[in-house]
Amino acid sequence: MLSIIAAISENGVIGNNNDLIWHLPADLKRFKKITSGHTVILGRKTFQSLPGVLPNRYHIIITKDKNFFVEDENVEVVNSLDEIITRFSNTEDEVFIIGGGEIYSQLLPYTSKLYITKVKKHFDGDTFFPDIDDSSWNIVEQEIGVEDERNTIPYEFISLIRKI
Ligand SMILES: NC(=O)c1ccc[n+]([C@@H]2O[C@H](COP(=O)([O-])OP(=O)(O)OC[C@H]3O[C@@H](n4cnc5c(N)ncnc54)[C@H](OP(=O)(O)O)[C@@H]3O)[C@@H](O)[C@H]2O)c1
Repeated sequence: MLSIIAAISENGVIGNNNDLIWHLPADLKRFKKITSGHTVILGRKTFQSLPGVLPNRYHIIITKDKNFFVEDENVEVVNSLDEIITRFSNTEDEVFIIGGGEIYSQLLPYTSKLYITKVKKHFDGDTFFPDIDDSSWNIVEQEIGVEDERNTIPYEFISLIRKI
């Protein structure tokens, strides 16, 4: 089963200059909690934006570059999205698509669940989340984020399951 996890600003922005824009530790904590122990699927650009391989997660990096290689037992590189769809759309295990924009856009149609952090502020950026068609999804969890001295932007966690 394919799930998406993403943090999205109120104008749909998810990143700029191959980096995240906002600092929201509560979102990073939730990301770690939800994805730990699972396989994560990510585009080559998002992988290169990370400080390194994420602990306790098996990574599948998508690139068209046949020579792209990461020497790590928890990293696999694939050149085709069809392979991802065939391998993971019907698994019992939840597999998490963690970005970025190109990968979210292409895999959203094959995704069963969305874990969205709504970052309730307008940000300028160059990468966007694709449109979510509200009529195709049921909200199953919704939680207003607690603001404090480290989390200074209003935010909300929301999970949606695709209507059958
Ligand atoms: N807010 C969030 O939750 C969140 C999460 C993740 C990332 N981000 C942000 O998103 C931005 C990066 O997103 P992005 O859209 O620029 O890049 P991306 O989706 O991370 O990666 C794009 C790359 O994936 C490969 N690719 C895409 N489609 C493919 C296909 N059909 N077959 C094979 N390979 C394919 C290509 O790699 P090659 O060029 O190597 O062929 C392409 O350049 C950054 O700013 C990052 O910080 C935000």
